[in-house]
Amino acid sequence: MKKIETYELNDGSSLPKIGFGTVNIQGAIGVNSILTAIEAGYRVIDTSTNYMNEGVVGEAIRRSSVPREELIISSKLPGMAHDYDKAIKMIQESLYRLGIDYFDKYLIHWPLPKQGKYDQAWQALVDAQKFGLIKTIGVSNFLEEHLNTIIDKTGVTPATNQIERHPYFNNNELVETNKKLGILTEVWSPFGREINDVIEHKTIAEIAKKYNKSATQVILRWNLKNGVMPIVKSSSYKHQKANLDVFDFELSQEDIDTIDGLDKGEPGRVEGQHPNEYEEFG
Ligand SMILES: NC(=O)c1ccc[n+]([C@@H]2O[C@H](COP(=O)([O-])OP(=O)(O)OC[C@H]3O[C@@H](n4cnc5c(N)ncnc54)[C@H](OP(=O)(O)O)[C@@H]3O)[C@@H](O)[C@H]2O)c1
Repeated sequence: MKKIETYELNDGSSLPKIGFGTVNIQGAIGVNSILTAIEAGYRVIDTSTNYMNEGVVGEAIRRSSVPREELIISSKLPGMAHDYDKAIKMIQESLYRLGIDYFDKYLIHWPLPKQGKYDQAWQALVDAQKFGLIKTIGVSNFLEEHLNTIIDKTGVTPATNQIERHPYFNNNELVETNKKLGILTEVWSPFGREINDVIEHKTIAEIAKKYNKSATQVILRWNLKNGVMPIVKSSSYKHQKANLDVFDFELSQEDIDTIDGLDKGEPGRVEGQHPNEYEEFG
């Protein structure tokens, strides 16, 4: 099995260019999906307290024949724990749920600016990293103003920012902002999730045909060309493997521009999840 190419991060570490997403991956079937993903070659496993599956990820880690130190386990702080003290306890609680003693990566899930405590939450991640509970710290769904606030307050720039990005909402401005600040963009819902028809789009199908690849492979390649890291979810071993088979072709600039042209702006977002408006469930 070929190793996935990597990106260098601003904290000196590196990450495989594609990660495995675990939304809706739960229970015994979920453990099996994560095990097949590891078998297919994924090393980054992206979970969150909000996904209610940190226990499932922990079980897969224990059952996998791949050693713990070769896996890159990433979780996310929920909005109910943005207070500094609660955040420190939540990070420890998540580690206990997973049955591991450090996170390779840990993110603040949403900025929740109406709550106004994401700066405290960021300070907690900065300190938890110093205590050795987390190796790489980052954020998710942070806009430029949220990034500037935490950097100004703590002097620490997140290593990654995980944001929505797919052909109907390419989020290119925020990708550029991340780049300017030296932050790697992680991409969530690269296929626009199952409620969307992104992967059935005629234009993408035509491009895919030219390269003898599938629509999902073309979308992943479009992301890699932009220097971002897609987090891909699939319960199917066949799809899991196909989604890693993207390192042997390049899209032309014309095809990249065509996919960029499918952007619908704000209405293209999945479920209207604007980071300034989104309120977490739970
Ligand atoms: N930070 C955040 O706020 C945030 C928000 C949303 C998601 N995320 C993360 O990002 C990950 C990915 O996002 P997502 O799960 O929302 O959606 P997604 O990856 O855009 O789409 C997943 C859907 O695509 C299908 N699929 C995958 N590979 C395929 C292939 N090769 N051919 C056909 N269909 C394929 C999957 O079906 P099968 O299972 O049948 O293959 C599933 O229905 C999540 O799992 C999560 O880890 C983070």
